[in-house]
Amino acid sequence: MSKAPQSFQPLPKLWLDGQVIATEQATFHFFSHALHYGVGVFEGVRCYTLDSGVPAIFRLKEHIRRLIDSARMCLIEVPFTQQQLEDACVAVVRESRVDACYLRPLIWIGEGPLGIGSTSNKIRAAVGSFPWGAYMGEEGLAKGIRCCISSLSRIPQTSNLPKAKICGQYVNSVLAKRAAQLAGYDEALLLDHNGHVTEGTGENIFMLRDGILKTPPLSTSILAGITRATLLELARERAAKLGITVVETNFGRDEVYCADEIFLTGTAAEVTPVREVEGRTIGAGKPGPVTRELMAAFQDVVRGRDASKSHWLTPIASR
Ligand SMILES: Cc1ncc(COP(=O)(O)O)c(C=O)c1O
Repeated sequence: MSKAPQSFQPLPKLWLDGQVIATEQATFHFFSHALHYGVGVFEGVRCYTLDSGVPAIFRLKEHIRRLIDSARMCLIEVPFTQQQLEDACVAVVRESRVDACYLRPLIWIGEGPLGIGSTSNKIRAAVGSFPWGAYMGEEGLAKGIRCCISSLSRIPQTSNLPKAKICGQYVNSVLAKRAAQLAGYDEALLLDHNGHVTEGTGENIFMLRDGILKTPPLSTSILAGITRATLLELARERAAKLGITVVETNFGRDEVYCADEIFLTGTAAEVTPVREVEGRTIGAGKPGPVTRELMAAFQDVVRGRDASKSHWLTPIASR
């Protein structure tokens, strides 16, 4: 595993428990329950610079709703409303004076008794942010990435809550990603216990074969990705033009190996093409026509060029 230091420069302002403070002033207690047991919930949200030059947060309402749902699934009583948490994200962008960034809202069980069953600890909430370019690198976006099938299964619904973005559940993703990188791949695809392909370590998956665009259904052990929902809508609207049928259905690794096109979707990964899965070249070994069309459609939405989707954007009023 590469030990080369990676640069990381968070934005100067962070929202913590209701107030905007300097990021370096945010310090946390060693006896924070979540640090030991992983019961915190988080979101990843992107703010884009629209073509007009105005920064706008993409699908903020949906992200904060999923954050509150994740907390509910963990029996965390969130001490802030949906509106307050949305306002917190807007405040971080505005106060940090940036045009584009990645936002990380996090709610967690804070300091206090360390017993596993402790219920009296304070619930803490924060929103931090940092600039984040192409998650898989510009080359990955342009040429497509290489994936393996992880030897680790995706967390099952019988022992975890895969629809929630719970900190501790990401051990599964981190281990799968590290193993993939050690083996020379960019990303890992995880199967469920029935052998169905579920998703990447932080992305949902779509595959195309003979004009049928498939993505696993929400009944599978996947995160209900907001980018997945976005791409489903964009693909269905363009189905006739692209000559495709869009279906939510399970598929195995054998189908993935023989796909004409594959792409991954996520807030960090946006729409990332896959050019190889474990030595099997996907299509022509470069992003295919349907993938390229949907990547462009996605960029039109997040840059404010698609007026029909302006309701997904929260512009940040001038500072
Ligand atoms: C495990 C997992 N699957 C899928 C996704 C994609 O979800 P979204 O498009 O809402 O970012 C993410 C990222 O949040 C993730 O962590």
